[in-house]
Amino acid sequence: MKIDFANLQLQYQTYKDKIDNNIQAVLNRSNYILGEEVQILEQELQKFTGAKHAITCSSGTDAILLALMAIDIQPGDEVITTPFTWISTGEMIALLKAKPVFVDIEADTFNIDSSLIEKSITEKTKAIMPVSLYGQPADIDAIKSIAVKYNLKVIIDGAQSFGSTYNRKMDSNLGDISTTSFFPSKPLGCYGDGGAVFTNNEEYASKIKLLRVHGQNKKYHHQYIGIGGRLDTLQAAVLLAKLSNFKNELKDRQKVADQYTEKLSGFFKTPVVKPNRTSAWAQYTLRVKNRNELQLRLKKNNIPSSVFYPIPLNLQECFKYLGYKDVDYPVSDIASREVLSIPMNPYLNNNQIDFIVSNLMKSRI
Ligand SMILES: Cc1ncc(COP(=O)(O)O)c(C=O)c1O
Repeated sequence: MKIDFANLQLQYQTYKDKIDNNIQAVLNRSNYILGEEVQILEQELQKFTGAKHAITCSSGTDAILLALMAIDIQPGDEVITTPFTWISTGEMIALLKAKPVFVDIEADTFNIDSSLIEKSITEKTKAIMPVSLYGQPADIDAIKSIAVKYNLKVIIDGAQSFGSTYNRKMDSNLGDISTTSFFPSKPLGCYGDGGAVFTNNEEYASKIKLLRVHGQNKKYHHQYIGIGGRLDTLQAAVLLAKLSNFKNELKDRQKVADQYTEKLSGFFKTPVVKPNRTSAWAQYTLRVKNRNELQLRLKKNNIPSSVFYPIPLNLQECFKYLGYKDVDYPVSDIASREVLSIPMNPYLNNNQIDFIVSNLMKSRI
């Protein structure tokens, strides 16, 4: 049996006619930069998320950078975030010469532990940046009340969680600014790099629109130092073809997750989604003790699996200068040694799920 982790080929076949037509329309008009599809996509993203402004950009990484620049993060400022995430989260803070201040995670959701945030706040703290890891928003109410108390901004790195909710509100509409990634394997992916920034704040929205085109407010007039951070029209065309069916894809991801949980719980530590939240199920992640052996056995049966992430940010060479140690983040440290993500995509059928489950059961030690 052939099992794909994200199954982008079947995804393309599913949307082929729409995608091909949309791409052809862009080619016919040759409007490759900030073309009509980009504007339409931004309107559709606003409708989908409920956020007043959706500004597309070149990647989820650039979306974080644009968000941090919009709130005017300066050298020496501190931004509180999680060490258990993809590098971009901490990297963009450091790129602006600000300091990523890591706060350990919750053992069940793998998201930042809001009860530990307050003691990491200093006079230099400017923002809190939770990550909605594997697709589930962090404890946003608690994080927001800390932010209000200390006059901090909340930026949500929602690269993995487009379409997820917290108290029925979309993840993209929860922070002062929220971001997402349209990397191909993300819940809503394009066929190259892409991302978006969301906000209800007029001032941030206008600034981000300028920052993504080199701070240019009029041709050859540059109000800010910005970046070349636009989304290609061709990528917008791909996203538009998929967005109209995205709600169904989320439902199908949920069905796959429900089946996994029903069949695996009691035998494996399965993911926990808090009652007031939904996950976009970017990943379905188990906790296992003997990860290497298990992965090898799955591989022998052609079942792909992945580890997000084997090395937390506090232990990355590029962050050595911050002087953090593994003992500083015990929960994140154990998670990095135990997490294992198994195939997750909306196209997995019952036979494939049963095959994955039975191989996991056989491989259990
Ligand atoms: C948590 C997180 N933040 C940021 C990013 C960056 O997104 P992109 O790859 O689109 O730059 C990713 C992508 O994997 C991610 O998972």
